[in-house]
Amino acid sequence: MRPEAFSTLSILVLHGPNLNLLGQREPGVYGNTTLDEIDSLLIQEASKLDIKALCVQSNHEGELVDAIHSAWGRDRGILINAGAYTHTSIALRDALAAVNIPTVEVHLSNIYRRENFRHHSYIAPVAIGQISGFGSESYLLGLQALVHYIRQQDAG
Ligand code: DQA
Repeated sequence: MRPEAFSTLSILVLHGPNLNLLGQREPGVYGNTTLDEIDSLLIQEASKLDIKALCVQSNHEGELVDAIHSAWGRDRGILINAGAYTHTSIALRDALAAVNIPTVEVHLSNIYRRENFRHHSYIAPVAIGQISGFGSESYLLGLQALVHYIRQQDAG
């Protein structure tokens, strides 16, 4: 086991643009749950998993890049819903590749059932995996999968 396996495992949860409007924004697509409610569910799940989760939202690409950089040396995993930047941002993808921290990509909606421009993700090739289409549950499933992956790596 690596030494870091003994300290509390810390996960950075990143929410991208427009996700601060969850609850009001296109509820037919994204549901009625607000971002604060999603963060509370994640904190509850983190406590069940015996880990720490730090939740950050930004509408600005550079701030999301900075948040990814700040995870370096601090967080063992990143859970990210990059919102529309999923489909446009080479900068976010490069930041994730640079810090090389296990990452799970999540989406509330099933991006493959929607417009063609949502079918491509710049994040997917640098992520362990992706969970898409389960509403706020996508985040909880993503957190569980990420923690499971990290613990398996530590055990191996
Ligand atoms: C989203 C899907 C993206 O295509 C969209 O731009 C979002 C939200 C989702 O969670 O379903 O802002 O990431």
